[in-house]
Amino acid sequence: MQMGIDFWEFLAPDDDSVVVIDLNYSTDRIKKMNRELNPNGLNAIAIKTNPLVEVLRNLNQQNAAFEAASMGEIAIAKAAGIPNNRIVFDSPVKTKLELNWLNSQFLGGYINADSFDDLQNMQNFSQEIHLGLRLNPSMNIQSPNSLNVSGANSKFGEILHEISEEWIQKLRQFDRLDGLHVHQASQNSDFSNTLKGIRKVVDLANALPPKKIKFINIGGGLAFDYHQSKEADIDLYFSELKAICPELFDGTYQLITEFGRYYYAGGTSVYSRVEHVKEIANGRKMAIIHVGADMFLRESYNNSDWYHRLSVLDANGHEGNADQRSLTYNYDIGGPLCFAGDIPFRNHDLPEIQVGDWLKIHDAGANTFALWSRHCSRPFPLVIGHQNGKYFVLKHRETIQDVVRFWSDERNL
Ligand SMILES: Cc1ncc(COP(=O)(O)O)c(C=O)c1O
Repeated sequence: MQMGIDFWEFLAPDDDSVVVIDLNYSTDRIKKMNRELNPNGLNAIAIKTNPLVEVLRNLNQQNAAFEAASMGEIAIAKAAGIPNNRIVFDSPVKTKLELNWLNSQFLGGYINADSFDDLQNMQNFSQEIHLGLRLNPSMNIQSPNSLNVSGANSKFGEILHEISEEWIQKLRQFDRLDGLHVHQASQNSDFSNTLKGIRKVVDLANALPPKKIKFINIGGGLAFDYHQSKEADIDLYFSELKAICPELFDGTYQLITEFGRYYYAGGTSVYSRVEHVKEIANGRKMAIIHVGADMFLRESYNNSDWYHRLSVLDANGHEGNADQRSLTYNYDIGGPLCFAGDIPFRNHDLPEIQVGDWLKIHDAGANTFALWSRHCSRPFPLVIGHQNGKYFVLKHRETIQDVVRFWSDERNL
């Protein structure tokens, strides 16, 4: 029988869901950053967006740098072979033990302090470590609330209202400080306020003695349009950035970027088999699949902020066959978890879904499986990579024993 999906051969009977990643999607984007947009700077990719070690390993071949938000993420970068000088460590909470480790094992790396306290704790650090301070230029950017760190009550950075003599004196006291960091919001389509915030940080760097500040890290934040399957216009973003902050491109400061969603949102789909279809109110229907709030956590808890395009494939993986079905319904898509909020996708008009079909969830590569939840203890699914016409396994499906191990003390197994 002719199967509709090229990676079908990798699926075992108990693979009810599979993540499929086109690796060229992220490698094409890092090549463009490294060669065209910011060739003299450092282009870090946020590990939290997609922490699969094999994906990092693949991007390492393009000299990608990575942003790590925890010691676990540094370990993931190290497992993928990333050298310290291509890791930016942004954890907002660093313990004394972690600081000791960083000061001896993270030579060549970049660390951003989240506060003056945090910065003070690193003043005796080796000269071989680059040290920045995270600032919040208080621009009140528009983006989903849970991803917006630009407001006056943000948990991140030191809030910079005005560049004052007091600020300049304060920063001058930190001998080891040689960089400034700003990440204002994610899923952010408001370029103008973002750029104004970055400009304010560059102005602060300019107000300090020459050569004190060596790098400026502008964070991530670019939005993906999930309705149109389209990433933000990065060429436009960079041309505006260049016009507003030429110092980031003329050698005055090293420009560090740390986008996440931009590299991963597109190019990845999740396929999950439909196990049940039910009637719900007002002639609508609910299809139940095998991934829900365990993989699509934000979509389930903040439904109105998130959307993914969905397609229906028949039991053999053919999309066209399902599209030809004469009936369409309005569907909610429920996950497999045993709680009411496990409905990641709502109000989708789709061709009639039949038990045994596969649902394809588009643009599912950023902050989806990366937020994997253990609620209801289901195994993390198979992950398949796709590159240059070939498919291969990036990560095998977890076994039920792996799940038991997660909830156990190893010594008692
Ligand atoms: C400090 C920092 N940098 C970069 C990113 C990546 O952001 P985005 O995926 O919006 O590009 C994040 C995401 O939360 C972040 O917290």
